[in-house]
Amino acid sequence: MPDKLRTFMRPQLLIPAAVAIVLLISAIIFDLGRASARSQPFPYNHSIHIQNGISCLYCHTGALRGQSATLPTVGKCQGCHANMDSDTPELQAWADFIVDNPTVEWVPVAIQPDFVYFTHRPHLAAGLNCEQCHGDVSQMTTAKPQPHQDMGWCLDCHKELAPEKVTKLTDCATCHK
Ligand code: HEC
Ligand code: HEC
Ligand code: HEC
Ligand code: HEC
Ligand code: HEC
Repeated sequence: MPDKLRTFMRPQLLIPAAVAIVLLISAIIFDLGRASARSQPFPYNHSIHIQNGISCLYCHTGALRGQSATLPTVGKCQGCHANMDSDTPELQAWADFIVDNPTVEWVPVAIQPDFVYFTHRPHLAAGLNCEQCHGDVSQMTTAKPQPHQDMGWCLDCHKELAPEKVTKLTDCATCHK
């Protein structure tokens, strides 16, 4: 075998290369899926709920505990709306909508590919707030994806953190398990 090829074939280089190729292919498939994302089944309005003082964590309860922030069920919406008059066209539209849609599949917009490991808890524990990553949701109707939430975005922030933490926070295995 020529020397150069033998160097390339060394297992310690081949394994990261194979991992990178698998991730690259997964990333392309993920982007194709995202491009065809549907619009929301019902035009839920964030801004009105936040103006009424409802906290993000009331509806996205998983953000403090689990890996997923989770989206509210119809039951959670009805905890309030079952006791409210539907005296505006928007409220009536929701009351009519759930007659035919007892469960609602909200369309995710803030998502990373499956090969990325992200969990909210350490971020919230470090004192970051929702707006730093998701934008000013209090001004949004349906939630909008933030541009450029790619690997560079994660790494740029991680590199600014305490020096003794940077090695772990920039290690491939921290975000690609
Ligand atoms: C903690 C109570 C609470 C929960 C939970 C809640 N809402 Fe509301 N919702 C409100 C209040 C208060 C208003 C404002 C009503 C008003 O202005 O008269 C409102 C307004 C609305 C409106 C009218 C919006 C408009 O444009 O005028 C719709 C539609 C609606 N909610 C749907 C939902 C859906 C869907 C969910 C679940 C994902 C939900 N709500 C969860 C309290 C709640
Ligand atoms: C009354 C319930 C409710 C409250 C309060 C609420 N949300 Fe939401 N949120 C929803 C629903 C329903 C969706 C899915 C529909 C949509 O995207 O608008 C959603 C979607 C999102 C998404 C996109 C999720 C995804 O799957 O990609 C983000 C990010 C988000 N909310 C952040 C926030 C933040 C930040 C706050 C507080 C400032 C907040 N939400 C308050 C109900 C709520
Ligand atoms: C450090 C940045 C960051 C902060 C801070 C943050 N998020 Fe997220 N959020 C993300 C990323 C990245 C995703 C995509 C996760 C995935 O797909 O694995 C996400 C996903 C979500 C989702 C949708 C999917 C799901 O079920 O996880 C919701 C809802 C959400 N975040 C709400 C919130 C709320 C509410 C807060 C504040 C309490 C918050 N986020 C704070 C980065 C952040
Ligand atoms: C705005 C800054 C910021 C952004 C953006 C950000 N992070 Fe973080 N990340 C942090 C902080 C702060 C911590 C907690 C560090 C600590 O104190 O231990 C953290 C911790 C983590 C951890 C836990 C590491 C451990 O100790 O096990 C993972 C995993 C992680 N981030 C993944 C991601 C991913 C994936 C993205 C991009 C999708 C991302 N982060 C974007 C600031 C950020
Ligand atoms: C702080 C979190 C984080 C760390 C550390 C990290 N990545 Fe990523 N990586 C991501 C995120 C988020 C994506 C998906 C978004 C994107 O495509 O940029 C990604 C995507 C990728 C992709 C898919 C191709 C692409 O760019 O879209 C490859 C290959 C990759 N990472 C390799 C690596 C390698 C090798 C390392 C270690 C040197 C590493 N990553 C470290 C967060 C991270």
